[in-house]
Amino acid sequence: MYAEIDFTTIDTSQEPPQEEPARQYYFIAKCRQHVKHLEEKLGRRPTFFTQTFGCQMNARDSEKLTGILQAAGYEKASSEEADFVIYNTCTVRENANQRVYGRLGYLHSLKKRNPHMQIALCGCMMQEAHVVEKLQKSYFFVDLIFGTHNLYKFAELLDTTLESDRMVVDVWEKEHTIVEDLPCDRKYSFKSGVNIMFGCNNFCSYCIVPYVRGRERSRSPEAISEEIRQLVQNGVREVMLLGQNVNSYGKDLLPPVSFARLLEELQKIPNLARIRFMTSHPKDLSPELIQVMAKYPKICRHLHLPLQSGSSRILQKMNRRYDKEDYLALTEKIREAVPDISLTTDIIVGFPGETEEDFLETLDVVERVGYDTAFTFLYSRRTGTPAAAMPEQIPEDVAKDRFDRLLALVQEKGRARSGRFMGSIQEVLVEEKNAAKEGWLTGRMSQNLLVHFPGSAALIGELLPVRLTKCKGFYYIGEQVKCHYHQ
Ligand code: SAH
Ligand code: SF4
Ligand code: F3S
Repeated sequence: MYAEIDFTTIDTSQEPPQEEPARQYYFIAKCRQHVKHLEEKLGRRPTFFTQTFGCQMNARDSEKLTGILQAAGYEKASSEEADFVIYNTCTVRENANQRVYGRLGYLHSLKKRNPHMQIALCGCMMQEAHVVEKLQKSYFFVDLIFGTHNLYKFAELLDTTLESDRMVVDVWEKEHTIVEDLPCDRKYSFKSGVNIMFGCNNFCSYCIVPYVRGRERSRSPEAISEEIRQLVQNGVREVMLLGQNVNSYGKDLLPPVSFARLLEELQKIPNLARIRFMTSHPKDLSPELIQVMAKYPKICRHLHLPLQSGSSRILQKMNRRYDKEDYLALTEKIREAVPDISLTTDIIVGFPGETEEDFLETLDVVERVGYDTAFTFLYSRRTGTPAAAMPEQIPEDVAKDRFDRLLALVQEKGRARSGRFMGSIQEVLVEEKNAAKEGWLTGRMSQNLLVHFPGSAALIGELLPVRLTKCKGFYYIGEQVKCHYHQ
């Protein structure tokens, strides 16, 4: 187990071991020596800063990067004014890329002031050859570039970078087997993301993720369960199971295991209070999963079910493999089985060839399903995806107009729906001090709705009964219900 490793006993004068994770432990030990030398030179502890772009997968990966940097002896800084800065990038839409390029200029100016500063870039954007070419040509001040498939090797790459004065570039085209038991720094003590699978096999025609994250690979149920047991021992109450398409979990395992079976196993873990998961692809959502959700109260009353478009014609061009009727029937079945569920979704507007009629179909689904919230996106053309080569790309002003109309409807519907729990008592996981109001806390209901209520910071991480007294559109104001457990 990683927690039991004593890095001072690793002999770095020997050749590194070939097997993982022992090889990475060896390189952590080497990095510790480099960082120690740097500390002597600087007369202070060297610092690091990680910045994450993109989805929860990336956030989880960044916790692994942070874990390695801390194990190597760096101290966490609160801004980019640090000795080692790493950006974990996203490329799902063009604006995610632009933000990274924008920040790089700023990093360069910081590096001019701190000659010991090192800059690293990793994540999905780095899996694209044209990005790496551009960086090599015009961003010579970057010290390390690596991709998503070799993130497990970060300690080794860090060691190489600390020994080199040239840009280190290591990006793999293909995925690697899953390496367990590497260090990791969790952002919250009471809730945690847990990867259950990596990659995606769906190839939705607009999406870059399958190209930058590789094919689906599931972790074994034993490894997942063991990780969660450890987390619970360390105070975690809620886990979020992560995968690009959790409903196809386990199809690649021998013997195969369904996602519903996995949930059934995990909900048995004592003292684990809540299980969430993301993301569900409608085409693979099984009747078995709906039953399991209905049966076990530990499984949160929230389902994120990306629609993408309400037009069957566009859904086919998107390669989503369901149509409008399938989607509506599925949401009805879910609501029947789990009446208090909160449904949320992702929608893209302006996909190539989308007509006004297609768009009205999307609005129709939003009218009918009743989402609590929806993430709405303007279609972004991603190089290398089939949709990028499709004719009839939609002019920006048309897409923008549809986007605004969609957002208005989503908000109107969400606001009307969210009042449905008014006056009830709900179990809330207290997450943080309220940023706006002194002496107030913010917590989350099983349905993923936020509740603000007065209370002491000592309650952070606890599950409490809260009475919802006011609905403010997308969140509630509440008051703690005093009971003999929580005086
Ligand atoms: N695997 C998840 C989502 C991953 S990306 C799923 O299938 O639901 C998150 C969201 O980004 C997608 O649901 C989609 O709505 C949006 N998205 C992906 N590619 C996009 C693109 N090229 N342009 C605009 N939005 C996109
Ligand atoms: Fe992208 Fe589709 Fe895979 Fe989601 S399921 S990551 S949208 S290809
Ligand atoms: Fe972005 Fe990669 Fe996630 S492209 S959305 S960070 S899988």
